[in-house]
Amino acid sequence: MTPQEQLVQVVQSATDAAQAAASTAELERIEQEYLGRKGQLTGLLRLIGLLSPDEKPVFGQSVNAGKDAVVVVLETRRAELAKKEREARWAADAVDVTLPGDTRPRGGLHPLTRQIADVKAALISLGYSFGEYPEIEDYHYNFETLNYPPDHPAFDEQMSFYVDDRHLMRTQTTAFQTHVMETRKPPIRAATLGRCYRYEAVDQTHYHTFHQVDILAVDEGLSLADLKGTFAQMARLLYGEVEVRFRPDFFPFVEPGVEMAIRWRDRWLELGGAGMVHPHILQAMGIDPERYTGFAWGLGLDRITMSRCGIDDIRLLFENDLAMLRQF
Ligand code: FA5
Repeated sequence: MTPQEQLVQVVQSATDAAQAAASTAELERIEQEYLGRKGQLTGLLRLIGLLSPDEKPVFGQSVNAGKDAVVVVLETRRAELAKKEREARWAADAVDVTLPGDTRPRGGLHPLTRQIADVKAALISLGYSFGEYPEIEDYHYNFETLNYPPDHPAFDEQMSFYVDDRHLMRTQTTAFQTHVMETRKPPIRAATLGRCYRYEAVDQTHYHTFHQVDILAVDEGLSLADLKGTFAQMARLLYGEVEVRFRPDFFPFVEPGVEMAIRWRDRWLELGGAGMVHPHILQAMGIDPERYTGFAWGLGLDRITMSRCGIDDIRLLFENDLAMLRQF
């Protein structure tokens, strides 16, 4: 076989091999086999020594042309194979967006937390601003400044846990009133909510720890009608259209005092106490009771939560039993 014939054969077999290659990796090997430093086409150049001087340049050019032809075939085939491989990779990686997701348990808010947020939103919409006050409270703020006469039976209703001689776990958020009036002058529309504690027998509706929301409004010309309107409006925001009821009650820090209830599921549901701020308290805080009047209330947030969520035992709100809580 002449060198020219050998060249034709090598170019042909390189072309056949490239066409038959099934992957870019295989093509890589074929490229080495023919065009590499020790490759078959490169090897042909060594045959130049066998040729006459005028044949040499012609053969050299032929080998280079052959190499170029093989390069073109390899590149074309490489592009085809790379495209196929890319598409196969994409197909393997494809995500079926219609499959159900990989769901993770997402925590939810405690029913009490949600009711608290609703009550807060309702009162903020009525113009009240919220503040936070101590849960370990000075006797002074929890009772003394709230006009409790010494040895009055009202104390017995609010037995507490004492931390030392002067400090107790607050029994009512009403303790915030003096803090507010010490630092602010009328007009006042203040509110607070949070935990309260009482040393008392635990049953379905009473717990040693519970939550109250208190408001305090002091301004010129406020009357019991404003208190009733405010309560009715808050009750509407929380419960929809409901009847409200006021009945006389006693609290040392109000005069007159009332107990407030709403008509809910065909029963009267007592939500808490309220009344007009006692003139003694205004006076003691340096607010002229001839010019200003005020009203205040303290409602049980646990009772509100129980009624709105249909929970019949207050203890369920504190047990953190997930089977119970997941229903909400
Ligand atoms: C008070 O605590 C007064 N500070 C309310 C008040 C404020 C009157 C401002 C006038 C002016 P009382 O002790 O009734 O009042 O409690 C109010 C509400 O807190 C009750 O109606 C009830 O819903 C809730 N509450 C009281 N004790 C408990 C308890 N042990 N467990 C659950 N909720 C309670």
